[in-house]
Amino acid sequence: MSADLVVENLTVEYTSADYVVKPVDHFGCRVVDGSLALLLGPSGSGKTTLLSCLAGILQPTAGSIRHDGREITALEGAELAAYRRRGVGIVFQAFNLVPSLDARDNVMLPLRVAKFSLREARRRADELLNEVDLTDRRGHLPSELSGGQQQRVAIARALALDPPLLLADEPTAHLDYVQVETTLRILRRLTRPGRVLVVVTHDDRLLPLADQVVELVPHRPLEPDGPVDVRLKPAEVLFRQGDASDLIYIVDEGEVEIFRETVSGGLEILDRRGPDQCFGEMGPLFGLPRSASVRARSSTRLTGYSVSEFREALGLERLDGLVRAGAVADGRRINLRSVGGAARGVNGRDVVSGRPEADEHTGA
Ligand SMILES: Nc1ncnc2c1ncn2[C@@H]1O[C@H](COP(=O)(O)OP(=O)(O)OP(=O)(O)O)[C@@H](O)[C@H]1O
Ligand SMILES: [Mg+2]
Repeated sequence: MSADLVVENLTVEYTSADYVVKPVDHFGCRVVDGSLALLLGPSGSGKTTLLSCLAGILQPTAGSIRHDGREITALEGAELAAYRRRGVGIVFQAFNLVPSLDARDNVMLPLRVAKFSLREARRRADELLNEVDLTDRRGHLPSELSGGQQQRVAIARALALDPPLLLADEPTAHLDYVQVETTLRILRRLTRPGRVLVVVTHDDRLLPLADQVVELVPHRPLEPDGPVDVRLKPAEVLFRQGDASDLIYIVDEGEVEIFRETVSGGLEILDRRGPDQCFGEMGPLFGLPRSASVRARSSTRLTGYSVSEFREALGLERLDGLVRAGAVADGRRINLRSVGGAARGVNGRDVVSGRPEADEHTGA
């Protein structure tokens, strides 16, 4: 029986207003028993959503999570409750300590729920607090502890029943660098055979800590060199809502439509762009995933620019105007004749499980 954690094709879909958001989209990874995996992604990339699935708190829309001989997504009722209690420990982003209980009582809580005697629970709690270097603080309330110390109480509590899977959500989010150092050392110390550690974070200071790093949103190429010439056949999709954003596009010939897929499976056409009009500026400018999809209405030729190329070609004011005006939804035509359009082949577009922005702009 493998004690590796194996995630396959995991997808989580949320319905927001009347469109679908997939913060986790066909995600997969294998974390080898006894190792620490770092899932690295920016805010909104689905880290907490993913952890919630691993913790058995959230039922994914599709896919599978196997650990310790169990298919987690198939657990129900008493089995699921047992998994949540004993199969997995969670260190929450906000620690979630009980404010009226001191450190030791907080760690004792899951032990008491699991019917440990008072004495045995106290002994185990002290052992765990010692493991996270907090013996001298065990009688303090959370409000009397620093962020780093609260964090360590939360780690000790998550370990109380010695779960084979330990999850930590942004363990360094509220810590200064001195506290970060202690947390890193403790997390590293916690890896051992029979236990898998999964840490999700946007903090790349944690990279050296990991045995394995999984990026939730692949790094996009920093700056493509030179404008990209793209040709689309009728109905061909240029990018989809949720894709990583790289380029700002200008239509040279033909027409595209900007659309969203609705919950009912239909399509909502948000806008169209014809010759000399541009689209797709918000994603690359602000590092957001695409907020809508784009496809060709006819045979279409486009030029794609990186942000800096676009800025160079049109000037900062123009770019700023685009953003303020809600892209070119006003139909303003832009004279691009002065822009050099050296072709560089069709760009590669990474499909990622990013979060589409839930605002109303249609610049995609
Ligand atoms: N219950 C929900 N209903 C609808 N949409 C949700 C829900 N939970 C999360 N989302 C969507 O999924 C996206 C990803 O959320 P998630 O909290 O997993 O990201 P994250 O990577 O943990 O972000 P952060 O770094 O800010 O904690 C959210 O931005 C939101 O759009
Ligand atoms: Mg989160």
